[in-house]
Amino acid sequence: MTAPSATVENFRAIDVIRKKRDGRELSSAEIGALVRAYTDGKVPDYQVAAWLMAAVLRGMSRAETAALTDAMLHSGEVLDLSFLPVNKVDKHSTGGVGDKTSLVLAPLVAAAGIAVPMISGRGLGHTGGTLDKLESIPGFNVNLPLAKFRRVLETCGCAMTGQTAEIAPADRKLYALRDVTGTVESPYLICASIMSKKMAEGIDSLVLDVKTGSGAFMKTEKDAAFLAQLMVETGQRMGKNVVALLTDMDQPLGLMVGNALEVKEVIDVLRGAGPDDLRDLCIELAAWMLYLGKACSGVEEGKQQSLQLLQSGKALDKFRQMIELQSGDPRVLDDPRRLPQANHRVDVKATSSGYVSSFACEQVGTACVILGGGRERKEDSVDPAVGIVLQKKVGQPVSAGEPLATIHYNSEALAARASRLLTECIVISAERPGVNRPLVHQVIRSSGEAN
Ligand code: URA
Repeated sequence: MTAPSATVENFRAIDVIRKKRDGRELSSAEIGALVRAYTDGKVPDYQVAAWLMAAVLRGMSRAETAALTDAMLHSGEVLDLSFLPVNKVDKHSTGGVGDKTSLVLAPLVAAAGIAVPMISGRGLGHTGGTLDKLESIPGFNVNLPLAKFRRVLETCGCAMTGQTAEIAPADRKLYALRDVTGTVESPYLICASIMSKKMAEGIDSLVLDVKTGSGAFMKTEKDAAFLAQLMVETGQRMGKNVVALLTDMDQPLGLMVGNALEVKEVIDVLRGAGPDDLRDLCIELAAWMLYLGKACSGVEEGKQQSLQLLQSGKALDKFRQMIELQSGDPRVLDDPRRLPQANHRVDVKATSSGYVSSFACEQVGTACVILGGGRERKEDSVDPAVGIVLQKKVGQPVSAGEPLATIHYNSEALAARASRLLTECIVISAERPGVNRPLVHQVIRSSGEAN
């Protein structure tokens, strides 16, 4: 592991920006100095934004990626959870549209007796963020001080928080900056961002949900597999058990896109219902978490166990307990109308008859950001109530004039922009589309081991 104390004499941000811009490899000391200076507030956003863009365009070597991950990891505390006498497992997604599985998985896996110490992020680019979703539950606190994070975890088996001044502070700042500077789509930066906060959590094992398709940051399966391999290798280097599932993001997951709307769909799944694709993916990911956490002897058994935890209401009870412990209003579980609601709704209608053949899925996420569900600038706050409810998914028949989606909005002007975008991004064809894309494309476990 790179020595976190590496220093550079007379460090100047401009030197590392120019070096990366010109395609030269940075030393781990230079990367460490940049991360430290930015975390300490000694380098301004604009210089780091320039460096990030150079890193996106020039790429990074394995050594640079390792140095960045290590510097970000050691920017804050690395949790020691050895006081908990159970296995500790987490899951992280590379980001998608309607991807709300974390909110199901943390309580579901905790209900099986595994500790899930989950550090998540806010919306990033066109993708939604777990923290923004959780904050749509009135009162829910995602800024837990370390001592409280430990207490919640010990009491109910799962805790969900953001990067803080204590844990992964470098990712907290870099993540917010990347969100609004077009610097998300780099496998190296994504790897460092995800693995630095996950390795700070004190976990034994990690399941990675690496998205591929038009709504993912890595659009092709080849690019997604590259990112998955990079993260699995990083985990191995740090002595953790890591499995990556390449999962489909060619259309939104479930039917709801938008913070409070997605929480409502999470509640449906925790009640044993909800849309098939979302429920199936939650069960698949939970099964791997249970398997790595040694709560079952194989993934198939893990799936059965996960299904039972949903159907018995035990996963929902865990979610209720976590919401209470994190100061949220648990009454939303019994009456989701207590979640923030948008003032207006309007349908986006089909202009021709046929079948929904594909989504430009990234644009669905962008439409949600435009409505106010995500950020255009770092300082923006999100509107928890707005979003999109899909009425049709790929393969379903549609008649001209039928609703394809319903926009939940609070501003007429923003709804008009989102509506134009949605009309363009849902493609209707005369023929029923061919074979459905699988939910799970590949499983990557360690160097070269895939199935
Ligand atoms: N999730 C993260 O935490 N970081 C990224 O860069 C992308 C997805």
